[in-house]
Amino acid sequence: MIKRSLLLAGLLIFASIFQLRADEGMWLPMLIKRLNQRNLKEMGLQLTPEEIYSVNNSSLKDAIVSMGGFCTGEMISGQGLMLTNHHCGFDAIRENSTVEDDYLTNGFWAMNMKEELPNEGLFVSFLVRMEDVTAQMNEALEGLETEVDRNAKIAEMSRAIADQAEEGNGYDAEVKSFYAGNEFYLFVYERFTDVRLVGAPPQSVGKFGGDTDNWMWPRHTGDFSLFRVYAGPDGKPAEYSPDNVPLVPKHHLPVSIRGIEEGDFTLTFGFPGSTDRYLTSWGVEQALEKKNPTIVSIRDVKLDVLRKDMKADDAVRLMYASKFAQIANYWKYFIGQTEQLKHLDVKSEKEALEQKFQAWADADPERKAKYGDALEMIRTGFEMKDNTVIGGTYVIEGGLTGADAVLQTYRLTQAFNALMGMDEGPDREGLKDRLKPAAAEFFEETHMPTDQKLFAVTQKLYAENVDADQQPAYMQEMGETDWDAYAKKVYSESIFTDSQRLSDFIDNPDSAAFADDPMRKIATDLFEVYSGQSALNAEANAMLAKGTRLFQAGLREMMPEKEFYPDANSTLRASLGNVRAYEPKDGVVYKYYTTLDGKMAKEDPDDDEFIVPEGISALYDARDYGQYADADGNLPVNFISTNDITGGNSGSPVINGQGELIGLAFDGNWEAMSGDINFEPSVQRTISVDVRYVLWVIDKYADAGHLIDEMTLVTDKKSSKKARKNAFKN
Ligand code: ARG
Repeated sequence: MIKRSLLLAGLLIFASIFQLRADEGMWLPMLIKRLNQRNLKEMGLQLTPEEIYSVNNSSLKDAIVSMGGFCTGEMISGQGLMLTNHHCGFDAIRENSTVEDDYLTNGFWAMNMKEELPNEGLFVSFLVRMEDVTAQMNEALEGLETEVDRNAKIAEMSRAIADQAEEGNGYDAEVKSFYAGNEFYLFVYERFTDVRLVGAPPQSVGKFGGDTDNWMWPRHTGDFSLFRVYAGPDGKPAEYSPDNVPLVPKHHLPVSIRGIEEGDFTLTFGFPGSTDRYLTSWGVEQALEKKNPTIVSIRDVKLDVLRKDMKADDAVRLMYASKFAQIANYWKYFIGQTEQLKHLDVKSEKEALEQKFQAWADADPERKAKYGDALEMIRTGFEMKDNTVIGGTYVIEGGLTGADAVLQTYRLTQAFNALMGMDEGPDREGLKDRLKPAAAEFFEETHMPTDQKLFAVTQKLYAENVDADQQPAYMQEMGETDWDAYAKKVYSESIFTDSQRLSDFIDNPDSAAFADDPMRKIATDLFEVYSGQSALNAEANAMLAKGTRLFQAGLREMMPEKEFYPDANSTLRASLGNVRAYEPKDGVVYKYYTTLDGKMAKEDPDDDEFIVPEGISALYDARDYGQYADADGNLPVNFISTNDITGGNSGSPVINGQGELIGLAFDGNWEAMSGDINFEPSVQRTISVDVRYVLWVIDKYADAGHLIDEMTLVTDKKSSKKARKNAFKN
């Protein structure tokens, strides 16, 4: 990286003051054309909208995949090599690990394609095309009065449109609602199911800082892992087979190690899961007062149990590593969201917008008729639900998913009812044959003594914190109880909590024993509370849906000059930003990047969140950074930018103005934890791994330089030009 001259640096500061902020917004790629192209150019984007999204020519979108529907990945070679986060590959790494070959702890590197590890159930999807089907949908919805009729029609039409788009091409299609049901788009995907693990650093790199650093900046995490997508010999999706070949993607991202500077343009491209940017003040209030603290307190007790049992036994640690990470990630998320909703006084901001909206609606008779009641509908909807929020959160977080045996029992209950209703014969034997392995798998993934503890602590909390009339029947009947003793009794008696008892039952289903089973009754009663709640809330939910749809439509009419972006819904979105420092609090500035020196300063061999592997320390001691060092001779680790992302974007590429990969997005920051509800331009940042750190770990630490040889490396102006020329030819 060449140091910019002082003059240029001066110009940059000047430019940044007058810069138009385009960072808020998760844009549908086909709508990027609508954004002011001159502004984007000024931000530093050199690609054309066609180069970002095109149906007929290869474009950036052809390098981006939805990974398993929960994360994002990108193609970084012409042989299907895919980069994503370590926390996205976490469960695949865990599943391939044993206590003896613990890839989570030690890392994993395939030194050739033969060593790459298949992952059952994992898939990636490329977006083939998308299409606005709003007109078609609205025509079909014309005249439907109730939300029930509307939803039924939307489901029916969505299926019909998707079926048509899937005809004769092997693609997967779906229609999704945008702006709370004001617009509808069709998405057509090509899904590949042979996705193999290629490389992963040890957890002490990939999850360095653990839960302490999670959702925080400054950060020093090498949150990446590598996979390879395989296709059948014809290049089309195929189930795993040793005969499959690496996929040749339509586009792969060149990888730039030229470095970044403050103000540089950044584009993130990925599959954000969900946001609630149009949530009203009443929704904020309910999250603050009821929903968030309830989720946090239930997760607190679960994490305590898991922490102890995982520490005591390595097999249990591996079994629960992903479950723990998932619970802990959103436990901390909700703590942060609550803190920042308060600190940034998001409720007042929402109220101000609501007042403005109401005044605008009331100022014109026609508008008043259309939008005048929207906010009142929303307010009433939240009010009607207020009493059941805590009970409703408990039945899910503390009941049905409190201990794993509960949900498993609920699932099996339906199958067992079918089994007991069947006559002797081949159908019945066939069902038994299918149930056995499914049941066995559950016991492989669940440590019953741990599950029993989870059950005891969540039941106790449930009984203490939910009004009796909202408790499940068995809990109401029991009144005050010793929950440890009760858990012990249930787990020692139930068919569903012991693999031998369960497999005996499948061999000889006995309906009397089934009817008497304590876990069966628990699961059934909990599900009854759950479905009773949705019935109870049907009217409130319909009001919320209609009110929100009108509110969003009205807002767009009220501010016609503003381009509104739709809430995230797991569809492909682009977000435009710049590399940028921020002030977390008065008098403090956080730089835009961190280095290996900072990681070494955090090292603590006695704290498993802050261990530094031997190989990394040795390279650090030798300052062996190769071509990956920055201009000052430091090794960059993480950086921040103003892009607008959320969960699901994890693994998204951070792309520079020339379309080259410079980083890998993996987190948001603490000061903006309320960001899913209200974007905070001054403090909201995307945290990314610098791609130079990724390559350094692969090259120097793992000695897997053959993977780097596969990539299109950009090291200077000339190679950048060449990569650009080769990228989008068609
Ligand atoms: N907060 C990150 C996200 O939701 C996950 C980071 C995983 N790391 C961790 N220490 N749990 O995308």
